[in-house]
Amino acid sequence: MTIAHEEPDVTGVLSWFPLELPPAQRVIGLFVAKWTIGALRPLVQLGVPDLLADGPRGAADLARETGTDTDALHRVLRATAAAGLLREDDDGRYALTAAAQGLRAGVEGSVREMFLFASDPMMWRPYEDLLHSVRTGEPAFDRVFGETFFDHLRGHPQRAALFDRAMTQNHYPGTDRIFAQFDFSRFPRIADVGGGRGQFLAELLARHPQCSGAVCDQPQVVAEAAEEFARRGVADRATAVATDFFEGLPSGFDAYFIKHTLHNWNDRDAVRILTRVREAIGDASHARLLIVDMLLTGPGEWDLGKLTDVEMMAALGGRERDRADWNRVAGHAGFAPANDPAPGGLALLEYRPL
Ligand SMILES: C[S@@+](CC[C@H](N)C(=O)[O-])C[C@H]1O[C@@H](n2cnc3c(N)ncnc32)[C@H](O)[C@@H]1O
Repeated sequence: MTIAHEEPDVTGVLSWFPLELPPAQRVIGLFVAKWTIGALRPLVQLGVPDLLADGPRGAADLARETGTDTDALHRVLRATAAAGLLREDDDGRYALTAAAQGLRAGVEGSVREMFLFASDPMMWRPYEDLLHSVRTGEPAFDRVFGETFFDHLRGHPQRAALFDRAMTQNHYPGTDRIFAQFDFSRFPRIADVGGGRGQFLAELLARHPQCSGAVCDQPQVVAEAAEEFARRGVADRATAVATDFFEGLPSGFDAYFIKHTLHNWNDRDAVRILTRVREAIGDASHARLLIVDMLLTGPGEWDLGKLTDVEMMAALGGRERDRADWNRVAGHAGFAPANDPAPGGLALLEYRPL
């Protein structure tokens, strides 16, 4: 995708920032992203979007309530308004824009936890040493923190809770389209492999009352699933299976759904996980593997997945994949393609057992 701009050779994210710079200096505009995220983060940490839920308020009033410095708060509010995330009226009061509504806690469609996770130092610091990844192919995270991402989470419960909460909001562009378009009702029993707290299984079961299912994830993660199932009214059709997906997965399901999880792993580990799925399927030739992840486009095309691919490299040593990559990884585990979704964005790839 080329984003329209008056200068034909300023395309992609470079054209997003309204800076008056000649094309050869437009790269400076990229820092607008850092400055905007930086100003917004303390506001979200303080719960300012929630404090504005009932209407506009001024900096002094908000500073009193949040116990912050009025001038400093005013400046981050002003910057955030300049960036288009808040609206500043002539009296210096601030109101939520539609985008900032999504930063309130506990509202339908909120992405607050995802914002706090993605802007957390834990997710910035690997970029400090991305050159290490580029030189070696190894995740920078491991060098910065001295351990792998998931080992780090196991030793830091508060960070793990932040990650798990963020994943309950993992409604990447495309997730709703997949829920709406793919016929999950073909599968009476669905296993969600690496399904976190069961948020997407609960969504599936709520949409398809004839289906039942199980979320399969690490013990400390699925411990929270019962609450999610009860909240969505699907507790009678949903179970939680505590497992290490490198060790084994339960058999007896008609579909093994695995969303936003294989991109966390390199090809060797992705094949190991899918081999456990293939073993769980056994002789059940009707059963299907359903992968939901980015499906990369060809050379030169705008593709969010080509950017998140670098995040996967930095933090986890994982990767986003194109169709040939997916077919190779799934093929090594004993699966053949059964559908042909369009590349670009999130896709559901269906595989049948060989
Ligand atoms: C990026 S999250 C995706 C969660 C969810 N499927 C979604 O779409 O939001 C990856 C999931 O893999 C799980 N995971 C990581 N290592 C695991 C392991 N060895 N065994 C089982 N689950 C694991 C994590 O706990 C996490 O819930």
